[in-house]
Amino acid sequence: MPSIDPSVLTKFTEDALKAAGASDDEARTVANHLVQANLYGVDSHGVIRIPEYIDEVEHGRMKTKTSPKIVKEGKITAVIDAQFGFGQVAAKMAMELAMKKAKEHGIGGVTVHNCGHTGRIGAYPVMAAKENMIGIVWVKGAGPGVSPYGGKAAPLGTSPFTWAVPTGSDEPMFADYATSVSSEGKIRVMMSKGMKLPPNWLLDKDGKPTDDPAALYAGGSILTFGAHKGYALGLMVEALGGALSGGGVADDFVGANGVFAEAINIEDFVPVSEFKANIDRLIKKLRASPPQEGFTEVMVPGDPEYREERKRSKDGIYVNDNIWSDISKAAEKYHVAMPATKH
Ligand SMILES: NC(=O)c1ccc[n+]([C@@H]2O[C@H](COP(=O)([O-])OP(=O)(O)OC[C@H]3O[C@@H](n4cnc5c(N)ncnc54)[C@H](O)[C@@H]3O)[C@@H](O)[C@H]2O)c1
Repeated sequence: MPSIDPSVLTKFTEDALKAAGASDDEARTVANHLVQANLYGVDSHGVIRIPEYIDEVEHGRMKTKTSPKIVKEGKITAVIDAQFGFGQVAAKMAMELAMKKAKEHGIGGVTVHNCGHTGRIGAYPVMAAKENMIGIVWVKGAGPGVSPYGGKAAPLGTSPFTWAVPTGSDEPMFADYATSVSSEGKIRVMMSKGMKLPPNWLLDKDGKPTDDPAALYAGGSILTFGAHKGYALGLMVEALGGALSGGGVADDFVGANGVFAEAINIEDFVPVSEFKANIDRLIKKLRASPPQEGFTEVMVPGDPEYREERKRSKDGIYVNDNIWSDISKAAEKYHVAMPATKH
């Protein structure tokens, strides 16, 4: 299991994507995004995606050297056609545009269709929170399938949802998760480690519960989180990231992801200092809660990612052997040298 310095891994990722056809800007944006996901401990949306993205480019499902285009624009709204380019590029542009509109008019909402995979979507609302806004992002995922609550068919995507709010520190509070019980990527990582899944994550192709991650890729499906409640939230993602973005819904959706990015300018509602003081007070109260049996502390969303970032920035990023081997194969094809590992 190699450990790699984050800057070395970023440079390698950039080189590999450029060799496969990405422009300098595309490669930089995607490489920074993927390695940031690894730094945050979200390995399901880190460099594990290099072979997948290269495969999508090779098969024409994702286009390189392309720019997202604004195809419709209002005072506080915009519609972006990502032209099947890298999702990280289009989602970042959507958030930046929503933030600009929110700064001018209090609220901004921007959709994206014809969009590649947007990765770890928690990256986007934090951009707004760092500029004293609330960020909210809904991302319709194309699949593989998630079952509706109580159903065996799997027409839904893992469709994640994320928000971020500023705090008194330079670390916004943010939440970032799929509306299925797990992202597909996490199941892929667990499979690559030879692990079994917890109960109530997966159904096999016959609709029977299973702990075998491979069952997902043999016609199985993931369950929604929180039973009927996660199911309902997932349907809101279908409506905003799917129907509103113009990408479609369920399994006839076009592209890998559809996005609805929202920014809310806090100062247009309450003084930013008052808002931050309230959020800090909320966090303090939560952390002060005596832990329940089986817990050692109470965290707030975002804590696990910030902690992991501090650790991995120092120790390097560990990539498991199976994932490293897949990345090597993709890099070899384009004559990109594998980076030096720490140990
Ligand atoms: N682009 C896509 O198509 C797509 C689709 C699905 C998921 N994803 C990404 O997959 C990643 C993983 O999703 P997931 O559903 O497996 O996430 P998850 O179930 O691991 O939940 C992560 C969230 O829970 C918070 N959290 C974890 N432990 C906590 C605790 N003890 N107390 C408080 N908060 C806690 C984290 O800070 C984070 O906000 C996300 O980054 C998501 O953006 C992307």
